[in-house]
Amino acid sequence: MRYITFALAKGRLASNTMELLEKVGISCEEMKDKNSRKLIFVNEELKLKFFLAKANDVPTYVEYGAADIGFVGKDTILEEGRKLYEVLDLGLGKCRMCIAGPAAAKELLQHGELIRVATKYPNIAKDYFYNKKHQTVEIIKLNGSIELAPIVGLSEVIVDIVETGSTLRENGLEVLEEICSLSARMVVNEVSMKMEQERIAKIIRDLKDVMATT
Ligand code: PRP
Repeated sequence: MRYITFALAKGRLASNTMELLEKVGISCEEMKDKNSRKLIFVNEELKLKFFLAKANDVPTYVEYGAADIGFVGKDTILEEGRKLYEVLDLGLGKCRMCIAGPAAAKELLQHGELIRVATKYPNIAKDYFYNKKHQTVEIIKLNGSIELAPIVGLSEVIVDIVETGSTLRENGLEVLEEICSLSARMVVNEVSMKMEQERIAKIIRDLKDVMATT
């Protein structure tokens, strides 16, 4: 039996995903040692391997088959646009992708003005403004604390994740338009899906069952 390799997005999502996987009997003791600097963890008995990667890299590992299965946010899947199968919504990390800004910026969106949009997600922003809203905008890529952009005058609006909405509220900004809902998803390499059909289908089935009862 060959190993099935899982790529998990580093951070809170990884521990929540491992908790969910444990409920279907997929666990990795080695991974629980927080002091470990190891990058790849193995469960010899179940012939499984696990590794943690930057969220944005998870779809890449899965597309190329370096990981058979990935667990990553829908935001990253949309932004990266990799060739893979999205097979399951884990219902974890629910949030929304939104256009946000000061209330006054609403008008700029309604009138389709040439505005600047700051975001960590240039592909999602481009798709939304160009293909759905048919509005020409200038997209400015940032790497974090996106809410700063309209406050300091870098852009009129932002495209960013909103979870509780407190970051926006505390900075005098608000949701102006909702782009889509987000949550963590399970993704599978296209070849692995065929080659390891039985084992992967069982994992999907088991996860669905456990999610239906919790
Ligand atoms: C995310 C997102 C928002 C915030 C939304 O940022 O980019 O800034 O969380 O959460 P809220 O609606 O509950 O306030 P993250 O903390 O991931 O860091 P970043 O700013 O570096 O992207």
